[in-house]
Amino acid sequence: MERIPVAGPWITQKEIDYVTDAVTHAWYDNANIYHVRFEQAFAEYVNRKYAITLPSCTSAIHLSLLSLDLSPGDEVIVPDVTWIASSAPITYVGARPVFADIDIKSWCLDARSFEENITSRTRALILVDLYGNMPDMDAILDIAERHGIAVIEDAAEAVGSEYRGKKAGSFGLTSTFSFHGSKTLTTGEGGMLLTDDEETYKRCLFLRDHGRQPNERMFWNTEVAHKYKMSSMQAALGLAQLERIDELVARKRELFGWYRDALCEDGHITLNYEAPLVKNTYWMVTAIIDQTVGVTKDELITLMAQRSVDCRPFFSPLSSIPAYQNLAQATLNRSKNPNAYGLANQGINLPSGFNMTKDLVFRVCRDLKEALTESAKVVQTRKENATPIQPH
Ligand SMILES: Cc1ncc(COP(=O)(O)O)c(C=O)c1O
Repeated sequence: MERIPVAGPWITQKEIDYVTDAVTHAWYDNANIYHVRFEQAFAEYVNRKYAITLPSCTSAIHLSLLSLDLSPGDEVIVPDVTWIASSAPITYVGARPVFADIDIKSWCLDARSFEENITSRTRALILVDLYGNMPDMDAILDIAERHGIAVIEDAAEAVGSEYRGKKAGSFGLTSTFSFHGSKTLTTGEGGMLLTDDEETYKRCLFLRDHGRQPNERMFWNTEVAHKYKMSSMQAALGLAQLERIDELVARKRELFGWYRDALCEDGHITLNYEAPLVKNTYWMVTAIIDQTVGVTKDELITLMAQRSVDCRPFFSPLSSIPAYQNLAQATLNRSKNPNAYGLANQGINLPSGFNMTKDLVFRVCRDLKEALTESAKVVQTRKENATPIQPH
């Protein structure tokens, strides 16, 4: 049976032509033509003043934090449920991550939990548009402004999403995107940093080029910094994808619609939410399985793999994973983030690549329903194998 992968891009002749042109012509005096075109077009799409092409979204978050000049012991709040790339750069700059809870419906940062986690050391917030959804921007930005907290919008998964008609990536001091091969718009690997603030833009350009100012004395670096650049071929691929962005986003939404139609009658499954003020681009169609079913995400992923369907687990809370167990216990409080811990074990990402057809979606949905029926047996076996409690 054909294996169904969980993600993958949509590449057409346009992308092949642009990359071929870049590899043929984007050298010597033309070395940056595709970077400039991609940056300008992307800034215009997101409605930002400045854009910088980068090798990844991780490097964009790193540069954003570096530009804030944080001190050791400063705290940066980040939602407990996201990919570790959202939070790892906090450690790179010597600050401390503080994990706040997510909203039960949007799965993005919960505004109240954000406010509860603010201390006198809080300097920044990394706000994540999880799986293409958008958080309650009005409430969160208002809290951040009242407390003087810088906001970095991690829009890695949300190109094309909108909040009150404003594009993902247009919020906060800086915003960041990923163009990894699994993303809606891909450059293979790659990222972008955007801002409206000229000083931040110039500082990030300096920090991503080994600490040298453009047009200054050659090889006379004034700080030890980083080398974060994208190649012309990647920029050309990104530009071609961006010129097709409406088509890419429409297909993602269509794909979600097929899943919704096929699964909406199953009372045990909740799919991605779209609030009235939000346009969700559903980067990953995600199913939360009601706890009463009793199956865990790992068991369900195994059952789906047996049917040649690749699924991914909903992110485990960052405060629960081994990488963060050296943090002070105050940030590792299971009861502090009930939504993150309640959802984490129940969710799986369903195949959401551009190779998906309506028929393939129906096959996945049929397999999922079958797997859920079979999971009743798994649950039963687990109960039977559980160590019986010895009577005193
Ligand atoms: C929410 C989120 N933030 C950041 C990243 C990091 O992106 P990159 O792999 O381009 O560094 C990802 C990538 O998967 C992501 O999903």
